[in-house]
Amino acid sequence: MNKPIQSKLTQSPAWKALQAHQAEIANVHMRELFTRFPERAREFSLEAGALLLDYSKHRVTDSTLALLADLARQADVEGWRTRMFAGEHINASEDRAVLHVALRSALEAFPAGNDVVPLVRKAREGMRAFSDAVRGERLLGHTGKPMRTVINIGIGGSDLGPRMLTQALWRHADAPQSVAFVSNADPGDLAHTLAQAQPETTLIIVASKTFTTVETLGNANLARDWLVKALGSESAVKQHFAAVTTNIKAAGAFGIAAERCFPLWDWVGGRYSVWSSVGLPVAIAIGMDRFEDLLAGARAMDEHFLSAPLEANMPVLLALLGIWYANFFGAESHAVLPYAESLRELPAYLQQLEMESNGKGVDRDGQRVDYATVPVVWGSVGTNSQHAFHQMLHQGTHLVPCDFLVPAATTGAAAENALAQGAALMAGKDADLPYRRFDGNHPSSTIMFRDIDPHTMGQLLALYEHKVFVQGVIWNVNSFDQWGVELGKEIARTLSAQPAGGGAIAGLDASTNALLARLRSWRS
Ligand code: F6P
Repeated sequence: MNKPIQSKLTQSPAWKALQAHQAEIANVHMRELFTRFPERAREFSLEAGALLLDYSKHRVTDSTLALLADLARQADVEGWRTRMFAGEHINASEDRAVLHVALRSALEAFPAGNDVVPLVRKAREGMRAFSDAVRGERLLGHTGKPMRTVINIGIGGSDLGPRMLTQALWRHADAPQSVAFVSNADPGDLAHTLAQAQPETTLIIVASKTFTTVETLGNANLARDWLVKALGSESAVKQHFAAVTTNIKAAGAFGIAAERCFPLWDWVGGRYSVWSSVGLPVAIAIGMDRFEDLLAGARAMDEHFLSAPLEANMPVLLALLGIWYANFFGAESHAVLPYAESLRELPAYLQQLEMESNGKGVDRDGQRVDYATVPVVWGSVGTNSQHAFHQMLHQGTHLVPCDFLVPAATTGAAAENALAQGAALMAGKDADLPYRRFDGNHPSSTIMFRDIDPHTMGQLLALYEHKVFVQGVIWNVNSFDQWGVELGKEIARTLSAQPAGGGAIAGLDASTNALLARLRSWRS
């Protein structure tokens, strides 16, 4: 591993100015900032579309924000933004454009010189026709019955987005089908789901950008066996399976009819793909019109990201605040706390989005970085989280900036609890007994919105996508590849290929060889 050298970033004027400023502000309590500047709450809040961001409970002043904006300018965030929207191959290690924004664009042609809009529109028309047919009970199975259960088999970006949105938007779901998700290599995941389905009335969507992912193909093969065995005919596969993939050939070889293959392209990263055919289960659950509302919400955030000045740009602000704590306060994690049961899958979705994108230790120039990149993103739904780990947020030894996501409607007292947590974390409370003392000064952002509807969810997810983009630009990493997942896959293949009693695998460490031997003996 090449050693970190002093990077341009940590030697840069904007970085050094922030370091000096941090030393001045590190011991200032936010309570004091609120007392000194009564306008703080109004000044440090921003509305974009349906989202209200309150960022006043942060350890920042006007000067901090100006210095952070300097850092963004120095990194040429605006230039990189232009390059992404122009379809330049900013995913350099894979020589690919990054055009998930084209999936929700309203432009007639986009981007210039490599117009992908006709492809996107055609795919969306296909999604509409198919989802309408499923919802309208016109899509019939092998025995002539309409579908009752839709099962999406995929993993990572081919699972987390549609899974999370189907859950989040359940109040808008009016399909006669139930929609389920299977992702895990543990066959128990599929078995549990199939136990609640009837083969005659089950539609299975195999979502895999590459159509080579071991977990997905393993589950798809098991599901095909289950179907064929129950219906007594291989030809049932064509009626009960659909695919979402770039690899139409492999899907065809699996037995999925060409007209049931929904496209994806190499310029859409898995974790950015929920806007594409990967969203098919969502479109089936809520209908294509509402799915288009989701895209319109994301588009509204794209427009805000493109046009708002950096200082009043919501994704830029979230990115800069994250950098402030990760790089200047040493915060090693970041908590996402949605205060709505239906957003319970959101932390997992954001974990992939943020950590697979910016969990990089080598910069775009191939140098090891000498600064922290993405912190550990974790979280859970409030108020449950309060009774699990908020003790640590309030009185523990780690600095954990939090995002409170607060829908106003339908969440009852959960919303007030979110506000109470933000207030307590910020202000703290004095007490005589040390264990009753709350130091406070724990930073949080509050993102509040009226309701969890498709348009708002589109804005919210695009907000985080662009936050990740801005952080990647400043950290000078490629946010759009994921080479770090390859080594484990490779070793897993070797372990799986080793026959029972096959002895130690050459080149593999003694610990893993011993564990594999024990695993095999316990199984036999
Ligand atoms: O975990 C690695 C990864 O490549 C993710 O980036 C991706 O979302 C997931 O696997 C699934 O890949 P595919 O859609 O090709 O099956």
